[in-house]
Amino acid sequence: MAKKSGEKLEEIKLRFNKQAVDENARKAVEAFDQDKWHNHFHIDAPYSLISDPNGLCYCDGVYHIYCQWNPVPQNKNWHKNKSWMHVTTRDFINYSYPELSLWPGDEYDKDGCHSGCGFVEDGKVRVFYTANARDENYIRSVVQRYGTLQEDGSVVKEEIIVRGNPEGYTAHFRDPNFFYRRGKRYFAMAAQRMSDYPAKSSRPTNGTTLIYRETDKHNEFELLGEVKTDYYDFGYMWECPNLLRFGDTDVLIVCPQGVPHQEYKYQNHCLAGYFVGHFSVDSLEMLPSVFQELDRGFDFYSPQVFNDGERQILVGWIGMPDLTDTVASADEGGWLYCLTMPRELTLKQGHIYSAPVKEIENLRKDCKAIDVDNVKEFSEQLGDGTESDLTIKFGDAQKVEVALNYGDEKVTFSYDRATQTMIIDRNGMKLGGKGIRPFSDGKNTDVNIGTRKFKLYADETLKLRMFVDHSALEIFMQDGEEAASMLLYPVDTVQPKLEICADKPIEKVCGNIWTLGKFNYA
Ligand code: FRU
Repeated sequence: MAKKSGEKLEEIKLRFNKQAVDENARKAVEAFDQDKWHNHFHIDAPYSLISDPNGLCYCDGVYHIYCQWNPVPQNKNWHKNKSWMHVTTRDFINYSYPELSLWPGDEYDKDGCHSGCGFVEDGKVRVFYTANARDENYIRSVVQRYGTLQEDGSVVKEEIIVRGNPEGYTAHFRDPNFFYRRGKRYFAMAAQRMSDYPAKSSRPTNGTTLIYRETDKHNEFELLGEVKTDYYDFGYMWECPNLLRFGDTDVLIVCPQGVPHQEYKYQNHCLAGYFVGHFSVDSLEMLPSVFQELDRGFDFYSPQVFNDGERQILVGWIGMPDLTDTVASADEGGWLYCLTMPRELTLKQGHIYSAPVKEIENLRKDCKAIDVDNVKEFSEQLGDGTESDLTIKFGDAQKVEVALNYGDEKVTFSYDRATQTMIIDRNGMKLGGKGIRPFSDGKNTDVNIGTRKFKLYADETLKLRMFVDHSALEIFMQDGEEAASMLLYPVDTVQPKLEICADKPIEKVCGNIWTLGKFNYA
């Protein structure tokens, strides 16, 4: 095989033309209705591929949402040309057309403007991102760099804050994320330690998070070291860190890759989860350090959280790395993936709860109230894009299955009270990935398992809030104690039927089902 070599800057530059890209994106959005899988209330890729939310921030009443994007049409090598797409909104319902904001264009970022955070300084929206370049031998080099959003929607690239990767860590060193402590500015970095293998680690590299602190000089940062957790050997890379605070409690979100799966945990090959406790910027310890998952679905990764002054708001990517060939909308529609609805996070008893931001309720139309007693089976035809907020009071029922039935295809959510286990099963969908399970023995052996299994406490009632869009599904369980996001590509353009059945009579099913309106782009 020919040795891979880095591409030439001059060739790369020719691929990007903001005006042409923005025009294509606008046309694509205007044609969303022609594609049965384009979503109504999720931010979709206009064309080609989107991934990680980036640069989230709130400035003068406007929310800025960027995400990773390959804006080069017909480029089937989807995870390539990594750029930043940008949309704005004041209300999470009305959005600006997606536009190209930051793209490869110089020796530092010619092979990708990778993920980073957003912040507001002197009334300006600024970003802090990873510039990624490969040399003629395909060797990766990175710098962490600032940019500032301009009137025309582009980001001007500015000073470099960190050059290269620290000793002892590979060039998988990216995704800077600012946080503040005791009036000082810090940032967390996704990093890959060259491990003490095989003495201390099962792999030659391990994921970790590095912390930098601003010195007394503005914009000069020093490396303090690694966040210390009990998870030294937990996947080969941790991406996209976020450090946030609820009162005096700290939360560190990270995305470990390649963690061996367990029966009720770590069921995706790339995880998104968090530690809750106290993070000391002196000792760099996270105490206690117990890793919990943020979402239990098949397709959820690289979330980013920002604070709008009142709320901690998370936006995640409904997707999974390395699985582009399982995405059904790629071949027919030429687009891949979407973002989650923005979720407000709350912390209760050391656990993150999530729910779509309140503004999403403004999409509600045509409410149908549900209130049935003593049923073993129940079904309700859903409309075109719905929210179902249901409480199932078990009564005698021990096992309850909730299904979205698309004719001869379905996805099911089965709860067993005896074991407190929820199983999500999408084997009944014909198209799209089933869900690769991870590296139990260092390889992707369990390909296309199609189920996700986890523990869920439901004593007398099961509460499900399901947002069913054209190809994205988000479900919040037990008032947001658990969430699950996934992609579904029904073959026919049919609205699903919601079906509930149980082994014994269910005492009560009640709640509301709404048809939801669409996001508006202008
Ligand atoms: C996560 C990630 C980030 C990186 C970006 C590149 O999905 O791998 O670590 O910055 O995607 O697109």
